[in-house]
Amino acid sequence: MAMPRREGWVLWFTGIPGSGKTTIARAAQRMLWDRGVTCKILELDELRRLITPEPRYTEEERDIVYRALAVLASLLSENGSNVMVDATAHRRRWRDLARSRVNQFAEVYTRCSLDVARGREKGRQAEHSPPDIYAQAAQGAQVPGATVPYEEPRRPELLLDTGRAPSVECAKRVVNYVLQNFDQGRPRQKPGQPQNRPQPHPGRRRHRR
Ligand SMILES: Nc1ncnc2c1ncn2[C@@H]1O[C@H](COP(=O)(O)OP(=O)(O)O)[C@@H](O)[C@H]1O
Ligand SMILES: [Mg+2]
Repeated sequence: MAMPRREGWVLWFTGIPGSGKTTIARAAQRMLWDRGVTCKILELDELRRLITPEPRYTEEERDIVYRALAVLASLLSENGSNVMVDATAHRRRWRDLARSRVNQFAEVYTRCSLDVARGREKGRQAEHSPPDIYAQAAQGAQVPGATVPYEEPRRPELLLDTGRAPSVECAKRVVNYVLQNFDQGRPRQKPGQPQNRPQPHPGRRRHRR
């Protein structure tokens, strides 16, 4: 008997470090869960520890890592999972690769100025990402938006002005976009199942380098 087939959707959250990708993706994931829609967040800062435990952040390494991420997201969505990719991807070609492989795809651009992003560094709950990335940029590290050009999306499906709009408002826009534009298939069987609901962000755990 043929299995009913539904492709998942992929949202790629892109924006410079500190622009709010992780904060908004996690909030939107929880809101969607409450509406019966599940999704997996692929957070590059987390995956990188497995893929490149000692990252060099060279262009060549980033190319491999981002291509792997795009392929992973497309394979998951082909098999019915909804995916949020939480990864700066400062070159358009990496996001475009995912776009070319996924039918239900959207780019979510979390936009704010470099000054705003830099100013958030100390308050950021970044358990996976380097907490002092802009300080490292000042020492010559390759940081998108600061020492490496960040290629803005030309026509993002969603532009979130995170320097102005509160994160909850931004997350609501993401949820509305998903519900209005993507086929959700059947909701999961037991809406509201408490044990698996994505939990609010845990306390800060500092990233060790
Ligand atoms: N409108 C907003 N959207 C997202 N984050 C915001 C916003 N306003 C303030 N912040 C704060 O900015 C920081 C964003 O950090 P994070 O989500 O880790 O960024 P990124 O994942 O893009 O590096 C968090 O500390 C968050 O609380
Ligand atoms: Mg992040």
